Amino acid sequence: MSDLEERGRNRLAWAKAHMDVLAAIRRSLVRRKPLRGLRVGMALHVEAKTGVLALTLRDAGAKVRLASCNPLSTDDSVVAALRADGLETFAKKGETEKQYDEYLHKVLDLRPHIVIDDGADLIYRLHTNRREVLPDVIGGNEETTTGVLRVRAMERAGQLAFPVISVNDAHMKYLFDNRYGTGQSVIDGLLTATNLLLAGKRFVVAGYGWCGRGIATRARGMGAHVVVTEVDPVRAIEAKLDGFEVMTMEQAARDADFIITATGDKEVVTAKDLRLVKDGCVLANAGHFNVEVSMRDLERLAARKRRVREYVDEYALRGGKKVYVIGEGRLVNLAAGQGHPVEIMDMSFSIQALCTELLAKSGKAMPPRVHPVPRELDEKVARLKLRAMGIEIDALSAAQKEYLQSWTEGT
Ligand code: ADE
Repeated sequence: MSDLEERGRNRLAWAKAHMDVLAAIRRSLVRRKPLRGLRVGMALHVEAKTGVLALTLRDAGAKVRLASCNPLSTDDSVVAALRADGLETFAKKGETEKQYDEYLHKVLDLRPHIVIDDGADLIYRLHTNRREVLPDVIGGNEETTTGVLRVRAMERAGQLAFPVISVNDAHMKYLFDNRYGTGQSVIDGLLTATNLLLAGKRFVVAGYGWCGRGIATRARGMGAHVVVTEVDPVRAIEAKLDGFEVMTMEQAARDADFIITATGDKEVVTAKDLRLVKDGCVLANAGHFNVEVSMRDLERLAARKRRVREYVDEYALRGGKKVYVIGEGRLVNLAAGQGHPVEIMDMSFSIQALCTELLAKSGKAMPPRVHPVPRELDEKVARLKLRAMGIEIDALSAAQKEYLQSWTEGT
């Protein structure tokens, strides 16, 4: 066995050993094999926790093919271990955009019945140049905010050809993955890449959605002075009352030591901001696509560019300032870090596993719309997680339940 494969096996084993909720679901899936005879195509960040999910679905009876949903998020050791285990995996850290596209097509060549996507690039291809695969597709799951936005846009345009479950919108996903997962893994990626101190630094977070909230809170916990930029007036007030400074990017950029984007939109940091930032500013992105920091503007303003550390590019701007970009403006937590903590992905991927079973059972009867995760599945994962944590909670008495349903019993 190669050193790479051994490292991957160890990482898979470590992740599996800490994914208690998925382990409980897995036991039932392996016994019943509800995915027998089904082909499952996956495009997720190919790292250890994803490997555990893919193997779980295979052991539940499916034929599985896996590709990456981002050219820079792959853990090559996990790829080596999965391939050695017979799982068809198409991913390489630093793959070109062309390879990225080829690998997604390899997944679609399987003619999947179920697709599991993160960012909707697989779903997008199914609806454009791979439409011949559509007749075999029962349904799909979408993992992330950006992917759900894209799939909802397809639905609005009357284009969505099969049911898609918005896994991202399950409570047991976004409340923990987007907030605590992104919060911790972004700090992990930043520190791994830079080895710089956060305490006392001005740390700008663009976007105060669940991911931005997590990043801002964790950065404050590390002693940084956190500034939030927002476009939504309600979220801006929430950030202010959570104790953060709130201002425009133009105001924030001038003194920023770090700028982290987490908006899901494009052109959040552009030439006008890059002209203002101070020498040494570190830029990173936590959103799904590499469009939040305008890499085009950066290339245009730069006289020279060189790689100064693994994952860190120095842009020497005309006029003398230097700025640093982590992971080519791609997801910092996966390009330079290890992705979300294992226990967080345990909850997200438990939802994925249960929704895959749901599609296998009922997908053919579901209309081609975006479907929420059923409340029972959310609650099942929550109860399994509580059990794994050894926490008991109270239950409502019959009288309390009745009180909540009544409009006469006010006093
Ligand atoms: N690991 C696997 N998928 C991930 C995701 N979407 N975000 C962070 N870490 C991950």
